[in-house]
Amino acid sequence: MLRTVLVVVAEATRKYLLNGWLAAALTIPIVVCTAAASDQYDPRNFRVDLQALRTIDAGRQTFRFATFGSEAFWGDELQLHQAIAGAKNGGIGPGVSPQAALQLGLKVDVDALPPQVKKAIRTGALDLTDPSNTLQLLRLNAVIGLTGTFSGDRLSAVGIQCALCHSTTDNSFAPGIGHRLDGWANRDLNVGAIIAAAPRLESVAALLSTDVPTVRKVLASWGPGKFDAELFLDGRAFQPDGRSAATLIPPAFGLAGVNLHTWTAWGSVTHWNALVANLEMHGKGTFFDPRLDDAVKFPIAAREGFGHIHADEDQITPLLPELHVFQLTLNSPSAPRGSFDASAAQAGRAVFNGKARCSSCHVPPLFTEPGYNAHSAAEIGIDDFQAMRSPDGKYRTAPLRGLWTHQKGGFYHDGRFPTLAAVINHYNEFMSLGLNAAERYQLEMYLKSL
Ligand code: HEC
Ligand code: HEC
Repeated sequence: MLRTVLVVVAEATRKYLLNGWLAAALTIPIVVCTAAASDQYDPRNFRVDLQALRTIDAGRQTFRFATFGSEAFWGDELQLHQAIAGAKNGGIGPGVSPQAALQLGLKVDVDALPPQVKKAIRTGALDLTDPSNTLQLLRLNAVIGLTGTFSGDRLSAVGIQCALCHSTTDNSFAPGIGHRLDGWANRDLNVGAIIAAAPRLESVAALLSTDVPTVRKVLASWGPGKFDAELFLDGRAFQPDGRSAATLIPPAFGLAGVNLHTWTAWGSVTHWNALVANLEMHGKGTFFDPRLDDAVKFPIAAREGFGHIHADEDQITPLLPELHVFQLTLNSPSAPRGSFDASAAQAGRAVFNGKARCSSCHVPPLFTEPGYNAHSAAEIGIDDFQAMRSPDGKYRTAPLRGLWTHQKGGFYHDGRFPTLAAVINHYNEFMSLGLNAAERYQLEMYLKSL
């Protein structure tokens, strides 16, 4: 009993109070409580444990709030802030109201809102159709993944964070407004529409050797929950059948123990973090990947030297260690009770590990292979378009935990299968598994339970 109380106290303290200067004062009692709660705790590990907690917290701050100097791109170059502010607030055009921002899939962190703002939203006193209220939310640092820089009253730049695409909220306050869920894929976020709102896309058009209307057409083709991380490397915007080449935003949780990352197995978590922060978010840092010198596969990256980035003032590299540690601590959230048929899921586990042979690749409890976890397109019965946009030309065995959190937008890298049932039908046919309707249902329930 005492142990349970101590664990709860330790957890609550860690969750709600481990912040800024409080961290130093509070971590010690937390570690002491945690220590007392564990029978095996050896106090000689205290220093290392304390350091680990500090690193995790620093990584969380980076994941949520670091813009890596990306204001130079989103602000100075694309002038996105002007479109957000609108003409009435010193920008251009109609501006982006809080309502419009929520419709674009942006999320609001309720914990960043002072009581009077919460009350104003609740009572309708805060006009959600007025872009100046979006500026107020930005000033409060309440828009998840988007940070505004202000000169006096004027929004002078915006920068973006990892949390923009890899966090959402629990909608506890209102749709789109709630407590942060770090690491969850934001499948509502329309990244293409947000970028397309920027008034100056000339530099993007020049990079892609095309014109601005074409860039806008490409951005409009992505739709919610998708982004094309390879577009600025290879300029391929559409699949051969005309569908968008963008991929779904995957979760950033549940990755500890997983070797290769991204849909197409680009490399480790920290490799991808460095690539994204430099080449996608357009932060200021250092990035080395000579595989991008392949001018056939990556014509744009090779031409621009994207595999050899050196910023004068590196705002990314010093943050990579803590960011990496934090990400690996993000476990996949358990499926809520009642969200799946538990007895069918139980039977589905046997189908997954037996007749359906799923576990030959999706090895529990990682649900990907320990080792080189990638396969050719032919092995999973799909085309190789997206695989060939990556250095190894493979698809990474998707770790399946937390599938229930990202059912919007479909499954597989481009969402080609609208439901889990459709994924199962694909394997059933392609691998000639001979699963009957009951087995397919059980398998589906098992996938929903992971
Ligand atoms: C604009 C949206 C966006 C932003 C911002 C973003 N990501 Fe991603 N992230 C994606 C997409 C899309 C993919 C899939 C890319 C692919 O497979 O080609 C991805 C993939 C990943 C993966 C691989 C996940 C897996 O299943 O292996 C990790 C890890 C990751 N991102 C971490 C980060 C971190 C850390 C940041 C901040 C430095 C970040 N991302 C910023 C959209 C984003
Ligand atoms: C040969 C290895 C292999 C086998 C066998 C296999 N998978 Fe997969 N699975 C993959 C790969 C690779 C991907 C990623 C596909 C992509 O990125 O488009 C994947 C993706 C998935 C996804 C989509 C995940 C997401 O986030 O969208 C699901 C669900 C899935 N597999 C379930 C299963 C089930 C159920 C079985 C058994 C019937 C199975 N897999 C058998 C390799 C395999």
